[in-house]
Amino acid sequence: MKNIKDSYVLNNGKKIPCVGYGTWQTPDGETAVAAVKAAIESGYRHIDAAAVYKNELSVGRGIIESGIAREELFVTSKVWNRMRGYENTLQAFDRTLNDLKLDYLDLYLIHWPAVKKQFENWEELNLSTWKAMTELYKAGKIKSIGVSNFKPHHLKALMETEVKPMVNQIEFHPGMMQEETVSFCRENDILIEAWSPLGSGRMLENPDLLSMGEKYGKSVAQICIRWCLQNGVLPLPKSVTPSRIIENGDVFDFEISGDDMKVINSLEYFGGSGHDSDEVTF
Ligand code: A2P
Repeated sequence: MKNIKDSYVLNNGKKIPCVGYGTWQTPDGETAVAAVKAAIESGYRHIDAAAVYKNELSVGRGIIESGIAREELFVTSKVWNRMRGYENTLQAFDRTLNDLKLDYLDLYLIHWPAVKKQFENWEELNLSTWKAMTELYKAGKIKSIGVSNFKPHHLKALMETEVKPMVNQIEFHPGMMQEETVSFCRENDILIEAWSPLGSGRMLENPDLLSMGEKYGKSVAQICIRWCLQNGVLPLPKSVTPSRIIENGDVFDFEISGDDMKVINSLEYFGGSGHDSDEVTF
């Protein structure tokens, strides 16, 4: 990847810009509008949204106010847990499209898998959500479809269907590499996207990463984002601060050495969201 507009290619041949702009925890209203505009102005071409972030109206406004042509932008959203199932998913999709003021999405994801702990029919529920996504995909309303927070045992049933997921968006940052999920996805040509690539800011004070940053003359945030890319993962850093938005996209003028990649790859868990998709109660 040479710059922020370069792309990965999904298993259906669609291109996806290699760094996405995350909008989780971005306050709705003017903050979200200004942040999305700042991201697009600074070169981001990929916006990662979700219904549950409760800011899609503002994200949509930011997109419109940026003046960017729709086809130059890659926009993702996600169907929230309360809207699982065939009919609900179709309804959730319409709502999101309406809020974002778009007439298609580039990528739509199942936000979290239905799991055994909460549903006896968890697998059927995931399949009926997937059926709606597949129909929307085939109708051209969504250009690519995928999942988020799915482990291999959640993905298994979907892999037997007509259209296989193109993306799995998971928590991924130093100390949390979810190796089993990542290797399953690699084997099946599913691109991994990293949510919270900075561990929601928790990585930034880590002494190992601080000294790595010093060595390369880069911030810890830039090290984390670059490290994702060098692992073939698509990072989705979130910031509402203009200088950080720019900083997080400025990761294409250095390369982490193979040895240093190994050092970061072998860091032990030192913090994360604590959310395990098999255990969550939301
Ligand atoms: P803010 O949005 O106030 O700028 P993640 O992407 O892992 O979820 O992390 C997001 C958190 O990290 C937010 O609190 C964000 O703060 C902060 N953050 C994002 N980029 C940087 C950066 N380059 N330097 C320091 N903090 C950052």
